[in-house]
Amino acid sequence: MRTKRVLAGAATAVAVLGGYVLWPGGAASSETRSRADRQVNALVKAMTLDEKISFVHGSTDPESRGQAGFMPGVERLGIPPLRLTDGPAGIHLAQKATAMPAPVALASTFDDRLARDFGKVIGRDGRALGQDVLLSPMTNIIRVPYGGRNFETFAEDPLLSSRMVAQEIAGIQGEGLMATVKHFAANNQERDRQTLDARVGEQAMREVELPPFEAALKAGASSFMCAYNKVNGVYACENEELLDNVLREQWGFEGWVMSDWRATHSTKSLSAGLDQEMPLGEYLDAPLKQAIKDGSIPQSELDASVARILTQMHHFGLLRCASPVGARDGCVLPKRPALAGTMGDQVAQQVAEQGAVLLKNEQHTLPLTARSGSLAVIGQPAQRPVIGGGGSSEVTPRTVTAPLDEIRKRAPGEVTYRPGLDLTGTRIDEGALQPAFPANGMDLGYNEEKTFTSTLTVRTAGLYSFTVSAPQSISLLTIDGTDVLRGSRNKAARGALQLKPGTHEVKLQLRVIRSTDHVSMSWVTPESVAADRAEAVKAASAARTAVVFAFDDGTEGFDRTDLSLPFEQDKLIEAVTRANPNTIVVLNTGSAVTMPWLNRVKAVLNMYYPGGMGGRATARLLYGQANPSGRLTQTFPTSEEHTSVASDASAYPGRDGVVTYSEGVNVGYRWYDKTGTRPLFPFGYGLSYTSFAYSHLKAQPTRHGLCVTLNVRNTGSRTGSDTPQIYLGPDSSWHGEQPTKALAGYTKVTLKPDERTTVRIHIDQDSLRHWNADTRQWDAGRGARTVWAGTSAMHLPLQTRAHLR
Ligand code: BGC
Repeated sequence: MRTKRVLAGAATAVAVLGGYVLWPGGAASSETRSRADRQVNALVKAMTLDEKISFVHGSTDPESRGQAGFMPGVERLGIPPLRLTDGPAGIHLAQKATAMPAPVALASTFDDRLARDFGKVIGRDGRALGQDVLLSPMTNIIRVPYGGRNFETFAEDPLLSSRMVAQEIAGIQGEGLMATVKHFAANNQERDRQTLDARVGEQAMREVELPPFEAALKAGASSFMCAYNKVNGVYACENEELLDNVLREQWGFEGWVMSDWRATHSTKSLSAGLDQEMPLGEYLDAPLKQAIKDGSIPQSELDASVARILTQMHHFGLLRCASPVGARDGCVLPKRPALAGTMGDQVAQQVAEQGAVLLKNEQHTLPLTARSGSLAVIGQPAQRPVIGGGGSSEVTPRTVTAPLDEIRKRAPGEVTYRPGLDLTGTRIDEGALQPAFPANGMDLGYNEEKTFTSTLTVRTAGLYSFTVSAPQSISLLTIDGTDVLRGSRNKAARGALQLKPGTHEVKLQLRVIRSTDHVSMSWVTPESVAADRAEAVKAASAARTAVVFAFDDGTEGFDRTDLSLPFEQDKLIEAVTRANPNTIVVLNTGSAVTMPWLNRVKAVLNMYYPGGMGGRATARLLYGQANPSGRLTQTFPTSEEHTSVASDASAYPGRDGVVTYSEGVNVGYRWYDKTGTRPLFPFGYGLSYTSFAYSHLKAQPTRHGLCVTLNVRNTGSRTGSDTPQIYLGPDSSWHGEQPTKALAGYTKVTLKPDERTTVRIHIDQDSLRHWNADTRQWDAGRGARTVWAGTSAMHLPLQTRAHLR
């Protein structure tokens, strides 16, 4: 039986951020603490059972701004409602907000200050738009390249993820918006996410998946969101081991735990550590009331959950008008700021620029100059920018910049544009589809389900692409029983299938989840793909340089089924390189992709999903107004056959509902190291328009870890930023499982040509310890270890030894 305490926890340092007093894990000076305790306890006492129950599940907001969640508060006691909104790339509402680059791009900056600024922008926008709680950051580890939400999270490495999440939370909460770290835990894939059982060994859990969550807690995160999946056999939202033992008992968390949307499976979840069911109450509503009445769940457990939520509200100034004897008059709640506006755009642009990873740059093809001559810009994302991935992280952008416009502003020579692959599509003509889809689409009412069945006749063999626009629905299009596309809360869902000449059975299943929906469907035939490609090739051969923009449609809810670019874009790139050897590829993709054309192109710039300012950032990088400095936060494999889960269904996507994390602690680059597998691009990798040299590596044990110093010199001819990385080898004193090497520290420096500096990188004790699964405790790493310094997990030219105390 867990110990439910109304207020508890160990005292840690108080952080003052932007006027809000935040305390990691809830600890504060005893005076502040007892003031909070007194108010919270008095309020809990004054609340009726129904009022308390209204705290532990979500409700419908009578004044909704379209946010994901709502808790009504208690008006008579002056407790305001809470509005909860997504998400990781900016505020997800119908109102406009700063569309930030995808968090994976933020992590690629390896820049703590930018992570804090990123959080600050979202925090300010969220408060300005009437929100109180942010459903972000996501900090699950990138375990497999297929993961549908890899773009929404940070990295395959726990140290980098931990630093990012901590800084971002400080930024968000410093603006007065509560942060919710998600999805606790082991939500590393989208496929079968609602039911999947992630079997994770204890050491891998402690050393890889959990550290970023603990870092979030230490940074003061108000709330945790438990995941959809099961963890070692038990749903995350009723997982006593995770929620009660680890999070509360061991880590001392005093905030509240909310469920992911419809991730609650029982009323007993409350006793296991869940405090709030979202988005509505199925289990923590009437059934909970009954359980309390019949004594099967003690009232004290409900009180503890309510107190946790109230305590966080207190910390954020939201209880200033609350009192047990009735709402106070003449008091003011924290003022809401104006939108982040221009400041937001500036940060979005900086992150897009500094998070971009230059993967290849032969013969100094980039940056573009007058010598680059006429340009053929190919690919729809140049004109219709890819801003973010799909799902709950989508943002209605305040500002949008298109790469093509920004390139035209900077290009000294002629610029022609061809879509190369136009996926706008046309309505499927009546001759081809019998019965035809309604000419103007169809309208579906709230909660309606509909299946549209028809026969499609095609004359040409080839790849057919389909788009279903059903913004409020879950849609599934199958042809001859094969899934072509699945859409969920998406603007438009796209998918493609190879078809042979003849007739095919088409089935479109739709389920409206929110309001009335207007659904339409279109297609792109192989004939139009060929015509678009021919046009692009013609333009490429007429120009001196070709720039191809390639994309993917990464989205929450679905993993990728393979790692190549969708819609045969590999063929488009290949065709362009045949017409023009001077080809540059710009990637607007969310995670690792394979690049069968890599040897044929001169340069590759990975922009990820770069947010609303991405167009400007892309052009500034292409023209050398900004110098690329992003580093990969995940390994890019050479092919599908060279990943840790290749041809092992039990490791991914899972077998019989179970996915086994058989790689143990060797996630990401650690697996490549262990197996000697060569990646396409390693973790930590990224080029610059200048070059850097390292020397004089030294490692000195200190009382708190290890102090590493090295000299870095800019050996090129441009100012640029570099990220020296320190990796540690196995600890000679420890006999458990250990990675061949693991990232233990990094820093970022900006140097002018020929400038040199000595960087000092502190390696924290936490990076030296090991989880001992026998004693179920951390063992301090005290042996001798190799210390490497370099530019990526696979390029570590300097090494020394350190003997730890
Ligand atoms: C997602 C969460 C999100 C929530 C609310 C869920 O489907 O997994 O990340 O915060 O919806 O929109």
